Amino acid sequence: MAKISKVRKEQLRIRFDYNNMMSDFIGEEQGFTLRDIAANKKLVDKAFKTVSANRGTGMMGWTELPYNQAEVVEDIIATAKNIRKNFESFVVLGIGGSALGPTAVFQALCHLRHNELPAKRRKAPKFYVEDNVDPERMASLLDILDLKKTMFNVVTKSGATSETMSQYLIIMDILKSKFGDKASEHMIATTSSEKGNLIKIAKEEGLKTFYIPDGVGGRFSELCPVGLLPAAVLGIDIKAMLSGAAYMDKLCKTKDLRKNPALIAALLQYMSMKKGKNISVMMPYSDGLRYIADWYCQLWGESLGKAEDLNGNTVYAGQTPVKALGVTDQHSQIQLYREGPFDKVITLIGVENFRAEVTISEGCKDIPDVNFLCGHTMSELINSERKATEYALTTANRPNCTIIVPEINAFTVGEILYMFELETAYVGAMLNVNTFNQPGVEGGKNATYALFGRKGYEKTKEEMDKAPAKIQEYVC
Ligand code: PA5
Repeated sequence: MAKISKVRKEQLRIRFDYNNMMSDFIGEEQGFTLRDIAANKKLVDKAFKTVSANRGTGMMGWTELPYNQAEVVEDIIATAKNIRKNFESFVVLGIGGSALGPTAVFQALCHLRHNELPAKRRKAPKFYVEDNVDPERMASLLDILDLKKTMFNVVTKSGATSETMSQYLIIMDILKSKFGDKASEHMIATTSSEKGNLIKIAKEEGLKTFYIPDGVGGRFSELCPVGLLPAAVLGIDIKAMLSGAAYMDKLCKTKDLRKNPALIAALLQYMSMKKGKNISVMMPYSDGLRYIADWYCQLWGESLGKAEDLNGNTVYAGQTPVKALGVTDQHSQIQLYREGPFDKVITLIGVENFRAEVTISEGCKDIPDVNFLCGHTMSELINSERKATEYALTTANRPNCTIIVPEINAFTVGEILYMFELETAYVGAMLNVNTFNQPGVEGGKNATYALFGRKGYEKTKEEMDKAPAKIQEYVC
């Protein structure tokens, strides 16, 4: 990575515009005043202190990822170089954080038709992320892959996730039957260095292995080898991504609320939740950033959706994350956002400079109602539509805010990821919940183990068997 100058970093700084969350724009009933914000000073200070004090400890190991991976980053880059040279396809086997981050970064930083490009222009393997266990999906993947030229990356921190381990078993079996001893040359494992089954398997099979640090949970793992290896294979500048994350971290080191974008964003979401805004819509106006919204949904939903707070009180905390795409969803969801219940905060993501431009051609000279479009660019159109949505929401007193991204590149994507991670941690601290566990997800995982007769889950199976049988009259 070429060193990014201070001036360039400032140019690439993403901005959080919360004008339309304020009463000046959406009225006192829906919006906030500076007085409301000031009234939460104690809570904000406490959240800032908690997050700062816990940096790099417990499950907050992710805060240090921009700084403590120099050695592994070199290993990743060297491994990726080798994969790019020798393989035509790279397939991630993983789910949750192991899939959503790599998908979001691939979509943001690669050509939007990457897999369809000829190899010469692609300059990197085709890329697939296989999270679901739909048999039709797996069968169709196997139909198109040339296994001789495919590298798989099995990613699971626990090494126990049924979906990922099933995929591993299927693929490893096929690889062994085709390549015998050389099967391990087609599989890389990314997992916990000590805990879980995958590390044992990886050692037995002699797989190249990357480690997920202990204090980094699935949904906070994009900036560790979980996300960095796929990104590097795709030719993405992972050092720039980490540098963008470090820059955002630096911006957020101040406890001055109005200067810390993650902290003010967190407070506004927290205050919105307290006002009954139970839905957080993430709406990038960019195809490149569309899966950042999916990644955000997991981060926000799984981190904040908690039945109990840290003192054991039942709180049923959280805010339902919803993904939308601008402008596409202007033609499906905006009607609801503007005129439906007052239960949402809408975050738009706007891109100032797109990486490609297309001009709308001249034509229809005799039809002014079409001709007005001519000569404008598509980026003018998409950004005008974003501003139009902002206007439509604001005039209907709907709380909305905008994250402005100067351009989409590895640095700004690093900033976005880190800002959302930090914002989530701040809101979790404000809600006084455990942001970093996921007992609800584990519940589903355990029930699957029980249904499949996994040893140690007999009691869960017994409990499940005792559940009332379904009543046929309720099925029609
Ligand atoms: O955020 C989390 O911890 C989860 O959503 C995990 O990413 C997901 O369940 C997959 O877990 P694992 O990495 O253990 O396979």
